[in-house]
Amino acid sequence: MSVYSRIVGTGSYLPPRRLSNADLVAELAAKGVETSDEWIVERTGIGARHFAATGVFSSDLAFEACKQALSAAQLGPQDIDLVIVATSTPDMVFPSTACILQHKLAQLSPQAMGIAGSPAFDVQAVCAGFIYALSVADAMLRAGNAKRALVVGAEVFSRLLDFNDRTTCVLFGDGAGAVVLEASEQPGILATDIHADGKHVGLLCVPGHVQGGEILGDPVLKMDGQGVFKLAVGVLEDTARAVLAKAGLQDSDLDWLVPHQANIRIIQSTAKKLKLSLDKVLLTVADHGNTSAASIPLALDKGVRGGQIQPGQLVMLEGVGGGFAWGSVLLRY
Ligand code: ACO
Repeated sequence: MSVYSRIVGTGSYLPPRRLSNADLVAELAAKGVETSDEWIVERTGIGARHFAATGVFSSDLAFEACKQALSAAQLGPQDIDLVIVATSTPDMVFPSTACILQHKLAQLSPQAMGIAGSPAFDVQAVCAGFIYALSVADAMLRAGNAKRALVVGAEVFSRLLDFNDRTTCVLFGDGAGAVVLEASEQPGILATDIHADGKHVGLLCVPGHVQGGEILGDPVLKMDGQGVFKLAVGVLEDTARAVLAKAGLQDSDLDWLVPHQANIRIIQSTAKKLKLSLDKVLLTVADHGNTSAASIPLALDKGVRGGQIQPGQLVMLEGVGGGFAWGSVLLRY
């Protein structure tokens, strides 16, 4: 049994259609919805987001991110024996996006078919999804139930937006990020901390559901922005302190914080509470918007490929989202 799991490759993918705030403002104006670049930047820090084309699904974005992560790890799909996808925008009601992704990876080459038969499942924890998925994968690897996992966050959140609601449609984007997680004697993930409190369901939700061939209820995102903001800053501080305590470490030991990229003001507040300067925080919110479960692995991949995150450094990942669900992962990269 291995003592740890560790990340041995990262990858990410953004769909090519990029909308700057100016592009989105112009599109919304044509529908009679009034907003501005100034408002969006000042309140959220978001400058642009990417939207997937019609017919492109979470599994397609995940597939591209996984190819990159596998290549970075110098591995092929046949080396993977566990696939977990965090998403709130699955391709279908069922089967899971992880099963669809596994099959796409298996078709890459005759050898790649070795991935078929590995367990594959989705995790639904909205913007905390990647933290949940990584925590589950870590536990499975440490228990000896798998040796190498693909852990993915993939979303086409643009599909859930009401473009007549300016309070939400400016915030989100599409994308995917992935890591290869390997059982190891070396650290590795040092500690994980996940939580949920279902009494906050109404703060952030997409209340529609399928019944009798129809969608019943409203199938677009509803959010109490100020309620989310207040809850998020509190629980993010709590989980950061909890995961550090589990590992016997302190905030001053951190080299990098890779937060969920919802809003620059939430990120600044967390950094301040942890006494971290912003140059120790990986920031992608300006270019990606909030990509829900994809935002943390997208930012992690950017930090790794950009050379900021170096081997041996102490990195905290943390996220919060609908449910409410939240958590953090502390790792030695
Ligand atoms: N453009 C222009 N004006 C707008 C827009 C817009 N896109 N959206 C709202 N406004 C207006 C409102 O109508 C309101 O006008 P009024 O004063 O005339 O009534 C004014 O701006 C202020 O609205 P508030 O909702 O009070 O603005 P606030 O400062 O709270 O900012 C925001 C809103 C950005 C949503 C903020 O509450 C927030 O960031 N909350 C966190 C939400 C979040 O991050 N959600 C992501 C999902 S959850 C997660 O990932 C953690």
